[in-house]
This record gives sequence, C-alpha cells and structure tokens, in this order.
Amino acid sequence: MKAVAITKTGGPEALQVREYPDPQPGPRELSVKVTAAGVNFADILARKGLYPDGPPLPAVVGYEVAGEVLECGKEVRRFRAGDKVLALTRFQGYSEMVVVPEDQVFHIPENLSSSQAAAIPVNYLTAWQLVEMGGLKKGETLVIHNAGGGVGLAALEIARKRGARTIGTASAWKHERLLERGLDVAIDYRTEDWVDQVQHHTDGKGADLIFDPLGGSNWKKSFLALRPAGRLGLFGVSEMTRSGLYGPLKFFSVLQRMPFYTPIRLMNTNKGVYGVNLGRMWTEKKKVGQWAKAILNGAKRGWIHPYIDAAFTFEQASEAHRYLEERKNFGKVLLVPGGIESDLE
Ligand SMILES: NC(=O)c1ccc[n+]([C@@H]2O[C@H](COP(=O)([O-])OP(=O)(O)OC[C@H]3O[C@@H](n4cnc5c(N)ncnc54)[C@H](OP(=O)(O)O)[C@@H]3O)[C@@H](O)[C@H]2O)c1
Repeated sequence: MKAVAITKTGGPEALQVREYPDPQPGPRELSVKVTAAGVNFADILARKGLYPDGPPLPAVVGYEVAGEVLECGKEVRRFRAGDKVLALTRFQGYSEMVVVPEDQVFHIPENLSSSQAAAIPVNYLTAWQLVEMGGLKKGETLVIHNAGGGVGLAALEIARKRGARTIGTASAWKHERLLERGLDVAIDYRTEDWVDQVQHHTDGKGADLIFDPLGGSNWKKSFLALRPAGRLGLFGVSEMTRSGLYGPLKFFSVLQRMPFYTPIRLMNTNKGVYGVNLGRMWTEKKKVGQWAKAILNGAKRGWIHPYIDAAFTFEQASEAHRYLEERKNFGKVLLVPGGIESDLE
C-alpha cells in the first residue's frame, strides 16, 4: 500500500509517498481502506520536530480517517467488511489502509459523506472536550481563538447548540463566512487588540469561557480577558510554528512568554484554567466513545455539519501542509488517496 511518510524533520518537502506492506488486523482490530484522512496542525508540528507526542521520524502520521472496512479480526463484534466507518488512529492515517482497534471505530451516519466523516474525530472531539470541561452554559459568552480552524468551527457549532454567545478571533477574510455560520462577533486579532474588543462586546465584564490554542503570550491575555468565575481551556501552541528559531531554542522562546497560573492567583481572581490534549486520552476510550456517539448523533440530527475546505491527493501532501501553515484554510483539510471525491461540498 501507499502512504505519505514524514521522511525527516523539515519543511513540507519532507513529506514523500512511500510503499509499505499491507497491515493485517489482530483479533480485536479491523483494517480500513482509507478514502479520506484528516490533516491536523499536530502533523505539521511533528514534521517540524516540535511535537513531543509525535512518533520518531521517519514515520507516517495522521490521527483520523474515514473509509470502508476491509477485514475484521475474529473478536470484532460491531463491524463487518463493507461498513462505512470513521476512526481515530494513533498515527498511520496518511495511508491507503490502516489497522485500528475496534473501540476507536464508529459507523458513519448516512447523511455524511466520507470526507465529512474524516473531518469529525480530532476537531469535534477536541471541541466537545473543551466545552465539557469548560462547563459551557446557555447565555454564557465564549471566546473561540482560531475560530476559522477545524476545532474553531466545531466549537462554534457545539456552543451554538448550547445557547452560548460566541466571539471568535480569526484573520479578517474569514469573518464573513464565520458570521454566516452563526458566530455572533468576529475579531481580527491581527489589526485590533482582541482583549479590548472582548471587553467592549461584554460591557467591560470579560468572557465566561475562552478556548486558546495559540500559547505563548496569548495565554496571558486570555486569562486577563476572563470575568470572575470564568474558565480558560488551553489546547495548543500554534505560536510554536512561527518562523524564526528551531527545535529546543524555539520551544524555550515560546515557553518564556507563557504565564504561570499559581493556585493563589487562581483563587484570588476566581478563574479556572484547564488543559485538553486529545492525543493523551487513549486511556479514556469509553468516555471518548460516548462523546463520539453524541457528536455523530448531532450529525444525524443535522446540527453538526463538518466543513471541508480543501482536499489533496497523497502526491500533493506537501501542498496540504503548506496550505495550513500559510493560514489559507477555513475549516478542514484532507488527504484523499483515491483522488478528489465528488461528494466534497
Ligand atoms: N489539544 C488537542 O487535543 C488539540 C486537538 C486539535 C488541535 N489542537 C491545536 O489547535 C490548534 C488549531 O488546530 P486546528 O486543526 O483547529 O487548526 P487549523 O485548521 O490547522 O487552523 C490553522 C489556522 O490557525 C491559525 N493560526 C494561528 N496561529 C498560527 C500560526 N502560528 N501558524 C499557522 N496558523 C496559525 C490560522 O488562522 P487565522 O489566520 O485565522 O488565525 C490558520 O489558518 C493547533 O494549535 C492544534 O495543535 C489541539
């Protein structure tokens, strides 16, 4: 089978299509013929050698796929060959074929294309966990940073379903589309002071909940932009990919700009800070499985609609990474080993 390997630490050109033996499922696993694989920011960090949870290189990365079941191990109960499925994969997603444990696989609702299904696992589960841990309630104000990214759009749908008011930060060209998808207030964080804007749009009170995947000094600002009893969900360090230093030097320069939330400060400001890393939830498969079922139920009922921005073939994988890194995406970017699907939006 073909797969896209990150051959070494470096730029997008480090991605290359290689041949590998077809993987065989064990007793509780199934093999899936991949029709679409999600591209995530973590894959870019892995390529740049900035992702501590990534596999040693060379490696095939990829946390999520959708496709068709090829073969089931003899203890697999819920699936059979031919079923249309989506799956969380612990790497190897950028492949024509993956082998996955049964408890990481879910049936695709009939009203979703397999491309849309591949956009669900990482983005929606992360957004769901952020909302759950943040205890978002009806009438509260949520600030979503990187609102036009995959997680941002997923968080927007889930927050709207909960009846929250949403403020999003994103590059200006994404605003119109965000407002069309129901965002209440869009802020261009590149040209405006977004903390001032949040204060302005909350009558000087601040936000109830903020989702921050940027890291560095933005985490300081997000903490300041919370009102008392507010919560801050940290889930990424996109700042790490800015050009400049590399490797450990880069890591330390970003670390230096991060805040310290001491227990006394948290107590005296009446604020909560929590972290989300879906890539470290493998020991909580039951909980994650319940979240996945709730999300897929939302897709069935029509209030969850994953937005696919662009799809690239395996041979164009470098382009897909460049597209994300150059901030050209609005929503999900996919790799499609069989070519661009006709069911893309
Ligand atoms: N902890 C977890 O479990 C988890 C899971 C998924 C994702 N994440 C993290 O969440 C973040 C967003 O992921 P995603 O998949 O939603 O995003 P995405 O779709 O890959 O979004 C890319 C967008 O991020 C924004 N951005 C902000 N800073 C950037 C930078 N330094 N370089 C490039 N783009 C930057 C840009 O939008 P604007 O130009 O509009 O700012 C860009 O278009 C990433 O940091 C990722 O690692 C964490």
